Amino acid sequence: MLLDPGSARLSPASSPFLAAARRQQLQDRVPVWFMRQAGRSLPEYRRVREGIPMLESCARPDLVAEITLQPLRRYGVDAAIFYSDIMVPLLAVGVELDIVPGRGPVMAHRFAGEADLAALRPVEPTDVGYVTEAVQILVRELGEVPLIGFAGAPFTLASYLVEGGPSKDYARTKSLMVGDPELWDALCRRLADISAGFLAAQVAAGASAVQLFDSWAGSLSAEDYGRYAQPYAARVLQRMAELGVPRIHFGVGTAELLPLMGAAGADVVGVDWRLPLSEASRRIGPAYAVQGNLDPALLGAPWPVLAERVRAVVRSGALAPGHIFNLGHGVPPDADPAVLGRIVDLVHEEGPKLRREAGAQPADGRGSP
Ligand code: CP3
Repeated sequence: MLLDPGSARLSPASSPFLAAARRQQLQDRVPVWFMRQAGRSLPEYRRVREGIPMLESCARPDLVAEITLQPLRRYGVDAAIFYSDIMVPLLAVGVELDIVPGRGPVMAHRFAGEADLAALRPVEPTDVGYVTEAVQILVRELGEVPLIGFAGAPFTLASYLVEGGPSKDYARTKSLMVGDPELWDALCRRLADISAGFLAAQVAAGASAVQLFDSWAGSLSAEDYGRYAQPYAARVLQRMAELGVPRIHFGVGTAELLPLMGAAGADVVGVDWRLPLSEASRRIGPAYAVQGNLDPALLGAPWPVLAERVRAVVRSGALAPGHIFNLGHGVPPDADPAVLGRIVDLVHEEGPKLRREAGAQPADGRGSP
């Protein structure tokens, strides 16, 4: 069912992914994985999910392990990401919600005020026993390949709770945020504790790194982000610092927020496709690695054109103190898995040479941009 049984004795401690996440610009390997590498772009995913609702699939450890491993069997990616969803810990504490295919998370009730706070109690390991079990299976099967645990950041989670579902403008969320900062603070503190509890359960069971998704933080100005979102992301990331795992902090449309996202307590800042990585790194500063940032909308372009874009991302990332190759956002459902496979091979085969040509600083954990 799973991966090569021989790999089970190895540990991820010396993996290229973790080295890059600890800000080492490796000379011989550019690590690569894809956000949403598991999921609808894979026929084997669609097959095992047939008739099983998304959130139900997240509560079945055997299925979670199988889906997490599917992209590892196809691609030589340098990390696995735990198959779950940012809404799972909310469901685990009893918030009523569903994930509607093609739409996203939909709440049974919108968060409307003080009275709804009580439902948002902290996540205890016993609330997510199926997560612990799935991570334990995975760590055993993955051997030397690291497993990334993840959670949603408070702003992004709050946006689903307050809007009741996906939103284009986050108008209710922002109105609550500026109109009732005390209630917003209480809401986001509770969400920070929920996210941190969900991450802590994954790390305790063996996840090697964590990624905090503040996917929709880019809808905020830098000033509002600093005031209403960053402090709560920082609360989550601070708790992860205590656990000693590298922390990746990601959002979409965050060009103006990147330094604040680093300062929230990240080791690696995830960058979307709107800025070259060299410029992103210049903005964030020399104490952070970067992750990204091929535009996922280019995956259907002719291979020679796409390959040049992949090379450009590697060259630009070489100028940062640590680079993990990824897309600028998740794999789209209609992506061709064969194209993702070619990207992984190209990054691995040409990465070291491209990096040298671009003038990467040797790994000392403190390369200068
Ligand atoms: O491979 C991986 O990256 C791991 C799995 C993963 C999922 N969701 C599985 C999933 C991860 C890391 C997430 C995080 C997540 N979930 C985010 C942050 C990442 C991002 O994209 O910015 C957000 C915003 C969500 C909320 C959510 N869940 C959305 C917007 C959707 C898509 C809805 C749709 O149908 O278009 C989901 C559903 C979801 N989460 C799917 C998967 C594989 C698709 C479910 C299906 O098969 O129907």
